[in-house]
Amino acid sequence: MAHVRTLFFDGPLAESENKAFRNAQLGRPSDVIWNITNRCNLLCDHCYMAADGHALPDQLTDEETIEIVHRMGEAGVPVVFLSGGEPMMRSNFWEILEEINKQGVRPTVSTNCTMITPEVAKRLASYGVRWIATSVYGPAEFHDAMVGVPGTHERVVGAIKALRAEGIGVVLKTALSKDTWPYIFDIIGMAKDLDCGMVYICDLITAGRSEGGDDSRVSVEQWRELADYIVRDMLDPEMKFEYDIGAIPSVIPYIAEQFIANGVDVSKGLERLKTISACPVGKGHMNLNSAGGIMPCQFAQDWVVGNIREMSFAEATEALYQIDLEESEGQCAPQACEYSRICRGCRAKAWQRTGDAMAEDVTCILHPGEQRTIPVADPQSAHRSPSAPCAAPGGCG
Ligand SMILES: C[S@@+](CC[C@H](N)C(=O)[O-])C[C@H]1O[C@@H](n2cnc3c(N)ncnc32)[C@H](O)[C@@H]1O
Ligand code: SF4
Ligand code: SF4
Repeated sequence: MAHVRTLFFDGPLAESENKAFRNAQLGRPSDVIWNITNRCNLLCDHCYMAADGHALPDQLTDEETIEIVHRMGEAGVPVVFLSGGEPMMRSNFWEILEEINKQGVRPTVSTNCTMITPEVAKRLASYGVRWIATSVYGPAEFHDAMVGVPGTHERVVGAIKALRAEGIGVVLKTALSKDTWPYIFDIIGMAKDLDCGMVYICDLITAGRSEGGDDSRVSVEQWRELADYIVRDMLDPEMKFEYDIGAIPSVIPYIAEQFIANGVDVSKGLERLKTISACPVGKGHMNLNSAGGIMPCQFAQDWVVGNIREMSFAEATEALYQIDLEESEGQCAPQACEYSRICRGCRAKAWQRTGDAMAEDVTCILHPGEQRTIPVADPQSAHRSPSAPCAAPGGCG
């Protein structure tokens, strides 16, 4: 995930992003995405979690979830995303939120919004929730068919209005595929009309109920068309809207190239990308599954480096930063691509395609022969993220 406006300019997420960035510079966790349950009340066609009515057999107990939040506070985690499944279906959802608040961690809830009424929106605001992320895939009939439950689109729109009335920011999320492409520009328009501050567009992850769906991805040219639209939006001085791009990191250097062509100074964004690359795997970004598994990326649920039941946050963070000591390979290797260190390619897609997380990202939207225009110093050097901790035995303290 990469917030385009906040990365290159000054966006609505500057405060929490700055904290995450500082933590990454210090080799600490920058943010945690936590799937607190695998259960869901919808049955989306595309769900990479394959979420349904069932919890994982070894799901964290209520006591364990609260203890984990304590430890997050102690470890100085700045931001936590509560996700799922449907996080609001977890029986101690409100207790978790209350503890997050007590620990001074900033929560964002990633929810399908089906359980949010005006009263619930008020309660969320009173529990310190400043952002909700919810999903829309197209017009009502299409959306309802995709999530498998009639009336969902209407409920989501009602929930968004209730949340905005409480001053809670809303991120409208969508998964981009050949199915949703016809609606993508309308979804962006809908987000603006409903006063959502941001849209999150995630390239299709071919896992869970989307497994084997590589042919359902949109083309490179379609992604470039969308990125060009985003650039035009960013260059409009009246526009303050934020775009978050998921699971297709090459869109970020592509956008930077378009900014450069338009005379925009991209030095702030480039400086940040040296610490947290467009793919944040191994850069302080941590994911926990509902059984405590520690994952480099939520999109690769079977790529687990340990369990938070057995590891401290410091150990988990260290294990994740170790991934940054390895170089991307193939067309994403530093010898092959000048943008290797600021982009890295999508490591989750590499893992899913080959079982090797360092393999090349075959969904890159940059054409191999094209001139690269971003000034990246000494791209061939094995430059590590400044966040990568000392790898010496015992560490540097
Ligand atoms: C797994 S859901 C969990 C939160 C909540 N239940 C929701 O749907 O918003 C988080 C996000 O992942 C997205 N998602 C699910 N499957 C996906 C896939 N195969 N590719 C890309 N995004 C996907 C959903 O559209 C949703 O926006
Ligand atoms: S995408 Fe979200 S709402 Fe849809 S089935 Fe998966 S977890 Fe549930
Ligand atoms: S080749 Fe790989 S590292 Fe280079 S821009 Fe494309 S996805 Fe990113």
